[in-house]
Order: sequence, then structure tokens, then C-alpha cells
Amino acid sequence: MSVHSSLVNVETPAGVADLGKVRDNLLRIITYCRQHGISWRPHVKTHKCISLARLQIESGAQGLTVATPREAEVMSMVCDDLLLAYPIIGDSKLDRVMAIPNRVQITVGIDSEKALEAVASAALKAGRTVKVLVEMDLGMGRVGLGNKEDVVWLAKRIRKFKSVEYAGIMFYPGHIRNPQEKQDAGIESLATSLRNLYETLGLEGLSPEVVSGGSTPTLWRSHEVPGLTEIRSGTSIFFDRESITTGVADLDDMAYTVLSTVVSTSVNGRAVIDAGSKSLAKESWGKDGGFAVLLDHPEVELREISEEHGVLDISMSDWRPKVGERVRVLPNHVCVSVNLQDELLVLVDGALESWPLEARGRQFFDITI
Ligand SMILES: Cc1ncc(COP(=O)(O)O)c(C=O)c1O
Repeated sequence: MSVHSSLVNVETPAGVADLGKVRDNLLRIITYCRQHGISWRPHVKTHKCISLARLQIESGAQGLTVATPREAEVMSMVCDDLLLAYPIIGDSKLDRVMAIPNRVQITVGIDSEKALEAVASAALKAGRTVKVLVEMDLGMGRVGLGNKEDVVWLAKRIRKFKSVEYAGIMFYPGHIRNPQEKQDAGIESLATSLRNLYETLGLEGLSPEVVSGGSTPTLWRSHEVPGLTEIRSGTSIFFDRESITTGVADLDDMAYTVLSTVVSTSVNGRAVIDAGSKSLAKESWGKDGGFAVLLDHPEVELREISEEHGVLDISMSDWRPKVGERVRVLPNHVCVSVNLQDELLVLVDGALESWPLEARGRQFFDITI
């Protein structure tokens, strides 16, 4: 397939989503979740868009996951069940989150006593009850407590505060990014750690009601993770180049590309497009990986990237681009590319619409306006 006719006059580079494919992806995810009795709480950091969040809820998402106060403020307009899956440290951030209308149940993931105390006192001040998931690190080495004894200790501390309520545990398996058929060892290691954790929590009367995990690379293997009650996958609304290498999606499932124009072919074996790091982001896969591929010529990699230039390696392809030709570029990592767009162009039943990305940026979002 080539560039859609309604995109011919769009100024490039431009992030474009295909609503039909978005809908197909959402349907496939919710069908999988229902088949396995797991809830779905998609991470909105991928799209930052109220209309897409609404679509996720209408498709069957039980709630939404957010990372920033602005995402929480924006998404409170369409959802009354938000998980802040990021350590919420700092008074101004806490005040903003606690100011979200009380009809919204806020849950936070925490991994320190300091964060717990801060959340508890902010919740008390705001006159609300916040649910807490204790975060454990199951291999990524980013956030989360490193051993089950510490998880138990922090979970017990929650009981000391009236304004917070222990709801369960969370983890993020972001270290598992190999092809899905090669994830056996990674999944088995998650399973072992979780079984041990459940046993210890159970002995303390702290069996978790919620076990929140999941990611796009492990999406279709989530049912192999024992006790998982909800999946927070974000990327899977659009998928991206990583989703192809991990085997969780095909080229045909890609719902977001950056529309770009060939601006130069003067150097042999190369073509330069107007999508650089300021529209695709600079998410490298090391020296041999490149930054993106072309959706319609997946053998063509974007090998070098400047701010407004993307240098394509066409030496492995029969395709001979002409200056002015349009291409659809599939970034390595979709979330950071969407975040660079001023708006999202969305193909809706053949017509082109512009959808705002309200949750981009960090400023306060006034939901009363
Ligand atoms: C805490 C947390 N949960 C969920 C996700 C969603 O992961 P993915 O985009 O792989 O689905 C992320 C992604 O960065 C994350 O950091």
C-alpha cells in the first residue's frame, strides 16, 4: 500500500494514525484479555490523546495507566480509575494529583517509605483515599523493591495510614524485549519470583487483590505470568518497529507512521527524508540497528539521523526514490515519536482528521475549562 490520497497535500513530517488499524489492535487486545480473564489498563503515555483514551475505555479497558500529573489530569476527563505507575515525588506533583476530582479513584505505585508517607499525607490533606500498589523489581533494574521481604515490609506500613489502602503489587517487565518465542526464561523467572512473593505475602495476610504488570513485548504471553490481574501495555495501540522484531505484530498491524518527503537523492546509495530526530526521536538500536524503517519498503533502514534529516540506506533495495516522493516511516519506538507531534493526523474511514494530544507537556491542565 502506498500513501493514502488524503495525505497527498499534508505538510511533512507529520505523525499519522490509521484509526481502522487502531480499532483492530484494540479489539485483538481486549479479546485476548477476556479469553484469559485479565483486565486491561493501557498506558496512555503512548498516545497522550483524550479521544484515543476514550476509545480504549469503550473497547473494554477497565482503567488507564498514566505517568505524569498532566496525563492524570487530562485522563480524569474520560476515566474514573487511574493508576499512576510512576513514583510521585515532590509536593507540587502530589498536590496536582490529589486535586483531581474525587470521583476518580487514584492508585499509585510506590517503592519507598518516603513516597508512601508523602502520598498518605497529601491524600489526608485532600480528604481522599488513595490505593497503593507496592512495586517490585523483577529484573529490569529501574524502580521497584529488590526483594520480597522489603515488599512485605512496605505493604505492612500502608496499614498505618488511614488515607491510603493496600491494593496489591505491580512490576514492569521492561527487560524482556527479545522475540516472543524466546521469552521462556524471562517469563519463567517472573513466574518464580511472583510465586515466592505471593506465598510470603499470603503468610502475612497481604495476598494482593491487584497484580499489575504487562508490556507490549510480552503482551501475548501475559497469561503465562501467574496471578497477573491486569496488563498495562501502551505501545500496542499502534505497535512499532520493536513490535515487529519481537514478533508481537506484523507490518500490517502498524497503526502509526511518520509521513515524510524525500528531499535529496544526491548521494549514491542514500536518500534523505525530512523526518529526523525532531519527529521520529533518536531511539537507536546500536550501530547496526538504525532508527526506523520504511513501512512500504521495510528493507530500507534509516541509518543516520540529524534533527531534520533522516538518511535512508537504499543500497539493499530495488526502490529508487525520487525527490518529492512521500514515504511512511515506522519509528523504532512509537511513544517518543507521537510525543514530538503538535497534533495527530488520523485517517478515519478515508478522511483525514486532526486530533489534539492533550496530555503532552508538563503544565497544569485545567479540566474545568
Ligand atoms: C511502568 C510502565 N508500565 C507500562 C508500560 C507500557 O509498556 P509498553 O509500551 O511496552 O506496552 C511502561 C512503558 O514504558 C511503563 O514504564
